[in-house]
Amino acid sequence: ADPRVRAVLKLAPVIPVFTPDDIDDAVQVAQALFRGGLPVIEVTLRTPRALEAIKAMVEAVPDAVIGAGTVLDAAQMQAVKQAGGRFAVSPGATPRLYAAARDADLPYLPGVATGSELIVGLEHGLDTFKFFPAVQAGGAAMLSAWHGPFGDVRFCPTGGISAQTASQFLHLPNVLCVGGSWLTTAALMQTRDWDSVERLAREAAVLAG
Ligand code: 3PG
Repeated sequence: ADPRVRAVLKLAPVIPVFTPDDIDDAVQVAQALFRGGLPVIEVTLRTPRALEAIKAMVEAVPDAVIGAGTVLDAAQMQAVKQAGGRFAVSPGATPRLYAAARDADLPYLPGVATGSELIVGLEHGLDTFKFFPAVQAGGAAMLSAWHGPFGDVRFCPTGGISAQTASQFLHLPNVLCVGGSWLTTAALMQTRDWDSVERLAREAAVLAG
């Protein structure tokens, strides 16, 4: 297993999932989240300037751990590494993606939603996964059930989780942290409400099981 993955997931109870648009705004978001006590950020590669945003965030907040989400192919994996991203997250995984993460030497958090996907991940030497989409794929009850056969595996559930429901997941013995986009909603971005982003981070940073 790659111990760097769990080390990242243990830095904070919540990993904000952020889809960047404007580069300056992305820097503001990184600063606000970091000030609020959330050093780990998953920046999704869903917009044309996402890699540029990662670069700018890494430069502006060097003590934060900026990674990329929605990594769908090997080329993106290399691009994330070159942009200075510290980890990569996928909504699923393939043998090519596992190999690409190894080639890029990037800590990799692949998404799983079934037992077979999880076992494929184990076969590739990983033991820590994103459970995605967490609520839609079975929620906390699913993770409880997985703790039996996969007792040594740990998760970052993401998808449909809110500030109100995060604790349901965080109290599970096999959950290290949760991911969610509630700290950087479109409304907060439109109003450039960095104070609210920081406040939401501050609240998320003290969430516990
Ligand atoms: C992701 O890519 O992890 C999800 O878009 C985040 O899920 P959420 O928007 O339901 O928090």
